[in-house]
Amino acid sequence: MRTIDWVDGAIEIIDQTALPAQLTVRRLTTVPELIEAIQSLAVRGAPALGVAGALGVALAAQTSTGAARDEQVAAVAAARPTAVNLAGGVDRAAARLPEGAAAVLAEALRLRDEEVASSAAMAARGADLLQERCGPAPRLLTHCNTGGLATVTGGTALAVVTELHRRGTLGGVIASETRPLLQGARLTAWELGRAGVPYRVAVDSAGPFLLARGEVDAVVVGADRICANGDVVNKIGTYSHALGAVRAGVPFVVVAPESTLDPQTPTGAEVPIEDRDGAEVLSFDGSSTAPPGAVGINPAFDVTPADLVTAIVTDTRIIQFAGA
Ligand code: MRU
Repeated sequence: MRTIDWVDGAIEIIDQTALPAQLTVRRLTTVPELIEAIQSLAVRGAPALGVAGALGVALAAQTSTGAARDEQVAAVAAARPTAVNLAGGVDRAAARLPEGAAAVLAEALRLRDEEVASSAAMAARGADLLQERCGPAPRLLTHCNTGGLATVTGGTALAVVTELHRRGTLGGVIASETRPLLQGARLTAWELGRAGVPYRVAVDSAGPFLLARGEVDAVVVGADRICANGDVVNKIGTYSHALGAVRAGVPFVVVAPESTLDPQTPTGAEVPIEDRDGAEVLSFDGSSTAPPGAVGINPAFDVTPADLVTAIVTDTRIIQFAGA
């Protein structure tokens, strides 16, 4: 089953806001519907956002023309600022607009197919690397959701986890819950369960302590953007796990397709970090957890400096960092 696809002239997504309670497919027939789905995280994860961006241009090309169409295209690119894949997918499909709607759609579908192939390549390369670095049965910690739900099928870091399980060489995996929207507890746990991979869920703040206590052989995460200097922008909480990994002397491995590399942005300091509604951190499962009047602060991503990263695994190569 694909997380996002083009079906009979519209975009279909698995609605990730409804998981794990319900597996629902949502059909998006207009650009405003797509933008709402992106902003509410019904469709999310960097590679899936890239495909959403490209298919969004196809939708715009099919439903409008001229300045109205161009405004819609720009609005899709700006729907979320941090994952470079979104604007990258939009730009790639938009470059075909002069050739007409069919050419735009063909380009978007090519991008979709490339992301599927990338997932498979990263899974194999990442699993080989972890076995090499951590021995035959690595015990892993992962953050956020980087599985098929964040891509089209397969995944990035989570595809490495499931590949190790498939090989019979996974020593265990801990999913950190990923406050405030619980992509780890809701989505990663759901995906691991469906794949038959035994897992445990930890609160985000347990990561560095579990590492210090020797319960984890490597941290493996995805990325929303990787800057020219190797700084990794990913879900808030990633940086703490990286610090914990370095302190514990275990590898911190990032798995992301080449489409997440952003050589135009020199360092993490220049990346626009999405600040989401503070209300998301002031409630749990629909109930307030803070007193009336409390003010939330909610950066959705953080920057892990390149010097904490052991290796970046992409669909075509492994970038090893000096001293790692
Ligand atoms: O806010 P989200 O859920 O879109 O954030 C997603 C992440 O941070 C993922 O780790 C990242 O996109 C890599 S997905 C393969």
